[in-house]
Amino acid sequence: MRLIFLGPPGVGKGTQAQRLSAQQSIPKISTGDILREAVLKKTPLGVQAKSFMDSGKLVPDEVVIGIIRARLKETDSKEGFILDGFPRTVPQAQALTSMLRQDQRSIDRVLNFELSNDELVRRLSGRRSCPNCQAVYHLEYSPSQKPELCDRCGGKLIQRSDDQPETIRKRLEVYRSQTLPLIRFYEEQGVLVRIDGSGPPETVYQRVTAALG
Ligand code: AP5
Repeated sequence: MRLIFLGPPGVGKGTQAQRLSAQQSIPKISTGDILREAVLKKTPLGVQAKSFMDSGKLVPDEVVIGIIRARLKETDSKEGFILDGFPRTVPQAQALTSMLRQDQRSIDRVLNFELSNDELVRRLSGRRSCPNCQAVYHLEYSPSQKPELCDRCGGKLIQRSDDQPETIRKRLEVYRSQTLPLIRFYEEQGVLVRIDGSGPPETVYQRVTAALG
């Protein structure tokens, strides 16, 4: 199963991808997670990406295409993968098509998650994450048991630097101008499925598995 999870910031792509990845034993490949780890470790990639991410802009295409090209060569992706947050522009999607074609592979399904703008802002504003193990919480919808501490590893939870109101606005704007055209791109290839992203994670997950069944 080779899948893309598409949709605006905060729609719940990462939450759903995490669950499906565990259930299907295929890797979840998130460019956002890879970039955040690089920023945390202050690698040359992280130093280059930080200012784009903090201002809600996209990291340049050639950088993220390079990350995915290397990642898809790893053996764990041979049986399938879930791409979470990539591609995000038409040039990224074209590059992905051609790198998969070189290995006689293609994308099976693109799940496009949809949600109202107000709910996107609510999900992003209340998100808290663990920088150690990448676990994701929400102050209202899925709080950790002890305030500000990760249930899984005990790490101190943080609010992502790009989950501030001004940056959220910018990310939603960037999504509309640069990522929305991908819906058409994949619709024309006959692989796009629309998923209603509203309701609790469990309900959304049932829609995901139904769409893949
Ligand atoms: P990235 O990390 O990919 O961020 P994003 O696409 O903006 O998506 P998010 O992680 O914000 O949201 P999500 O849909 O995964 O939601 P989640 O499951 O966490 O990218 C960050 C930055 O990196 C970009 O701005 C860019 O700079 C750079 N970047 C990354 N990829 C790139 C690329 N390909 N090209 C160029 N630049 C790139 O859920 C959100 C919250 O809601 C959580 O608190 C969660 O607990 C809660 N929640 C989830 N589902 C539900 C539900 N059903 N009900 C209630 N609450 C829910």
